[in-house]
Amino acid sequence: MRTRVAIIGAGPAGLLLSHLLDLEGIDSVLIENRSSGYVLGRIRAGVLESSSVDLLTEVGVGQRIAQEGMEHRGIYLQWPEERHHIDFVDHVGRSVWIYGQTEVTKDLMAARAAAGQQSYYSAADVVLHDIESDRPSVTFTDADGHEQLVQADVIAGCDGSHGPSRQSIPSNVQSTWERVYPYAWLGVLADVPPSTDELIYAWHPAGFALHSMRSENVSRLYLQVAREDDLANWSDDRIWDSLAARLGHGQNGWKLNPGPITEKSILPMRSFVSTPMRHGKLFLAGDAAHTVPPTGAKGLNLAVADVAVLSRALVAWLRDGSSELADAYSDTALRRVWRCTHFSWWMTSMLHASGDDFEAQLQLAQLRWVASSHAGAAGLAENYAGLPIGY
Ligand code: FAD
Ligand code: PHB
Repeated sequence: MRTRVAIIGAGPAGLLLSHLLDLEGIDSVLIENRSSGYVLGRIRAGVLESSSVDLLTEVGVGQRIAQEGMEHRGIYLQWPEERHHIDFVDHVGRSVWIYGQTEVTKDLMAARAAAGQQSYYSAADVVLHDIESDRPSVTFTDADGHEQLVQADVIAGCDGSHGPSRQSIPSNVQSTWERVYPYAWLGVLADVPPSTDELIYAWHPAGFALHSMRSENVSRLYLQVAREDDLANWSDDRIWDSLAARLGHGQNGWKLNPGPITEKSILPMRSFVSTPMRHGKLFLAGDAAHTVPPTGAKGLNLAVADVAVLSRALVAWLRDGSSELADAYSDTALRRVWRCTHFSWWMTSMLHASGDDFEAQLQLAQLRWVASSHAGAAGLAENYAGLPIGY
């Protein structure tokens, strides 16, 4: 089979890219190794920057965000005995939206199905071929056990941190940067109305905690745990007790309402960047090229920003014959990638207990400055609410 763009991976990056290309009349084939049910059931990110919401709305997939998403003006930053609201709207004129990655995925899958573009889920043995030639292709075994060959003008590697695309780039042209953090997040989803109107990021000597949410009836909460920790060590009671202590239950009359936990997992944390984001006819986007720790809520938004840049470059090249944006894609995308890599590292380093008392004092000094200085708060707000696409 022949197509203009073979897209590997049906996460937010691959699905949004296919939609943006379709709107410009460029056909694509989407190849995903998991089932659509599995992709839709994966609990991941929950915060959309204003530029992500603007883009999704402009391209016709923003209706449910407007109806069901929760617009937040900012976040709370907290440490023992103190809670401060950082108002993004006041500081930079932009807000963020709470809308789960699962919902973004659902909206984009519906758009792709409506466009009638070919998608293969549950594809096995996905292999990229001839990415340095003019005839790149992808082979795989489809869900019915048939061998498939997709020939394309270009391949978009949107297959996340562990997919085959990045591995297809020869090691002598690839550079990587990595920071592995000595802690992880234990994340829970609970059927209980959030105990807060906006997200609370809490520094605590026993470890970081985050109170997030998915809807008016579902809370999403995280606890810093040791990297090698095991879910078996965390009963529901221990989780709620730790969240209550770290989030300041009882302080100034604030209460954390516990409820039934419906999902629990431990997420290791790392920063990772691989360059270049293009090699020959292969273009990487989203987690296929980079990973950020979740503290700044950047992972999903960075995937959206990458494909916004990539789709423009591919349209200019494949439809209008101009390769300039495609040639600049890696450098253009990496500018934002490194900005977000820095911001995510900064938020992570400022908020997680490392066991070092000197560092704890530096973190508290930094938190006090961010919460009390216009310049400090505006810097956080500008990065968290998101830089314009094209930054
Ligand atoms: P992905 O969403 O990873 O999509 C890649 C797709 O490629 C997947 O569907 C995968 O199944 C598919 N794929 C993989 N291998 C193959 C193959 N061989 N062939 C075909 N397809 C393949 N970010 C936050 O901001 N906040 C969070 O709370 C948060 N939580 C997260 C929790 C987890 C467990 C993970 C893994 C990530 C989390 N992130 C979070 C990061 C955020 O979800 C990602 O940055 C975002 O999903 C990136 O989108 P993507 O489309 O680039 O990659
Ligand atoms: C989430 O709701 O899952 C979430 C929110 C903010 C973060 C990370 C995760 O920084």
